[in-house]
Amino acid sequence: MTEAQSLPLYPHRHLLGIRGLSPVDIELLLDRADAAVSISRQSEKKVSTLRGRTQINLFYESSTRTQSSFELAGKRLGADVMNMSVASSSVKKGETLIDTAMTLNAMRPDILIIRHQSAGAAALLAQKVGCSVVNAGDGAHEHPTQALLDALTIRRAKGRIGGLTVAICGDILHSRVARSNILLLNALGARVRVVAPSTLLPSGIADMSVEVCPTMAEGLKGADVVMMLRLQRERMAGAFVPSVREYFHYFGLDAKKLQVAKEDALVMHPGPMNRGVEIASEIADGPQSVIQEQVEMGVAVRMAVMEALLDPRRNQDQTA
Ligand code: NCD
Repeated sequence: MTEAQSLPLYPHRHLLGIRGLSPVDIELLLDRADAAVSISRQSEKKVSTLRGRTQINLFYESSTRTQSSFELAGKRLGADVMNMSVASSSVKKGETLIDTAMTLNAMRPDILIIRHQSAGAAALLAQKVGCSVVNAGDGAHEHPTQALLDALTIRRAKGRIGGLTVAICGDILHSRVARSNILLLNALGARVRVVAPSTLLPSGIADMSVEVCPTMAEGLKGADVVMMLRLQRERMAGAFVPSVREYFHYFGLDAKKLQVAKEDALVMHPGPMNRGVEIASEIADGPQSVIQEQVEMGVAVRMAVMEALLDPRRNQDQTA
């Protein structure tokens, strides 16, 4: 992709989280992603930037959009993409993450995309393998490509990120999406509010440069962006909310609650959505929703990230 290749060299070999990226690194990835959007909108959707490169998707948690998005991104760049089906692999026979990774590493892939239920899994892998590693979600830690695709969606709709007020609402405690978004939005100068019942807030939230709002009315007032999060019931050991009905009443996004946000506020959700739990269908499918744009931007962001990490101008032996 000539446009992207004229952009400055991206300085990192892995993408393990938003933490550690500078505002310049983030903008560089978003600029590259902007250039990648047009490829997916052409009838001929394939370029040869990653021709001859091998991408392995290693997903230990089920995923629809993230895995298919990484797969399409790699294929559109011309890479050979392999999806490791963990459910039917040696992992089921007790193989450890590191042993699986070392086996795959011996097949000399160029890039490994990992999703894992444990925080830190991607960083651990990056120390053990010889190729680039992308974190596609590690436990409740980070999900950097989701934050990047959210930022791209916002930047394209609003023209900027700095100065915007973004309300992130719902299950902040279990959400890697929230954590990565808070880091990214703060890095680019947005004002970030979080809205959640106290049981769904992490203990360290006060140190994350966000305004904590106990009600939707306070959190959404004058907001430019309303980002809803899924209630991650699979990560909950006990009862964090009294009932789903009550949760929707207080924290679910409906037309009435959205009224206090800016008239042109964007409504976002990373998916998968629980309709009627954190978001009403009329809002999810309504005129302010950019949920489908987020999915489209996901492919572009993942193309941009893989291109940037595998930039042929970089000496592949460096370990930065
Ligand atoms: C998110 C995830 O897996 O962290 N989904 C996604 O990547 N599209 C959010 C979620 O599962 O709620």
